[in-house]
Amino acid sequence: MYQIEKFSAPLSQKEMKLFESLVDVRDRHFLKKSEQTSQIWVAFFQGKPVGIVITVNAESPFYSEIHSLFVLPEHRSQNLGSRLLLCAENYLKEKACKYSTLFFRHDQDLAQSNEKFLARHGWNKSTCSNLLYLFHSSIFNAPWLQLFYDKPLPSQFREVSWKQVKEKDRILLQALEKENAFPYYVSPFRDEQFVEPLNSLALYKDEEVVGWMITHRILPHMIRYQAFFVEKQFQHTGIPMKILCDSIKLQIGSSVPYALAEINVSAAEPDWLRFASKRLAPYAQARGFIRQSWKQFSA
Ligand SMILES: CC(C)(COP(=O)(O)OP(=O)(O)OC[C@H]1O[C@@H](n2cnc3c(N)ncnc32)[C@H](O)[C@@H]1OP(=O)(O)O)[C@@H](O)C(=O)NCCC(=O)NCCS
Repeated sequence: MYQIEKFSAPLSQKEMKLFESLVDVRDRHFLKKSEQTSQIWVAFFQGKPVGIVITVNAESPFYSEIHSLFVLPEHRSQNLGSRLLLCAENYLKEKACKYSTLFFRHDQDLAQSNEKFLARHGWNKSTCSNLLYLFHSSIFNAPWLQLFYDKPLPSQFREVSWKQVKEKDRILLQALEKENAFPYYVSPFRDEQFVEPLNSLALYKDEEVVGWMITHRILPHMIRYQAFFVEKQFQHTGIPMKILCDSIKLQIGSSVPYALAEINVSAAEPDWLRFASKRLAPYAQARGFIRQSWKQFSA
């Protein structure tokens, strides 16, 4: 009755149009070309796509991921979700993955049944992974925005568009990344093909890049604030706020209406978490969170 077919990213335009409504907006970039090739399983009922699951990073034994496990409500409770999850797991095992993390959007109504579903398939109890805030740029009017926007940077500092960072500086940053000088989740090089030139900024102190606010265009009408980093010695100086505000202001002055901010709760600094709950959450049009579960695959 149901057929499951496997696809590899990037999907064709036709496939993209057919499947994208099954995929959370924040995960749709996995259907396009990216550094880590995604594998996609789609369940069909009478030729119509009704369920999906995506694996990412299958080449990595410890960092493989499963995203967007989803079955249309009218096709649930018929083992389809289990079959899709099994396709993803079997593929990861074939690729010698030892461990995988499954990410999904929290839904209060499904919370209990999702936990049961995960446990039944040998996945651990999920935990909160990322906070999500969605903003409409035309009504984002947080008072702190103007405060920092009007404040000039100290004279040794300057902001440039990320695209204007010199090749020699990129090479240096890539070397620093290899030495773990900054955490992988704030790397400016992750999925760089999605970098939004409009408001991705680099912060220079004299001739050295000491921070960045990288944004990605994840949908024609949505920018995700992807990676925000400023070297530790410049934190609490107002400098990080300045670069964040300038990036936001650039979007407000553009025709891209939606902004998505994601905060990784397990990795973010406590100060940043406090900032998010006090200064971002009250201005968000929608809030949510992503949960994550993990499973170790037996040999
Ligand atoms: C999670 C999700 C993918 C499960 O899809 P599904 O197709 O309903 O999954 P299954 O049918 O394999 O299993 C779901 C339930 O149906 C039951 N079921 C499976 N086959 C059945 C059958 N033949 N007859 C009766 N019940 C059946 C299972 O026991 C399970 O019940 P329980 O979890 O309440 O114990 C789906 O609910 C969904 O899309 N949710 C929204 C997205 C989401 O939250 N994804 C992350 C999930 S961790």
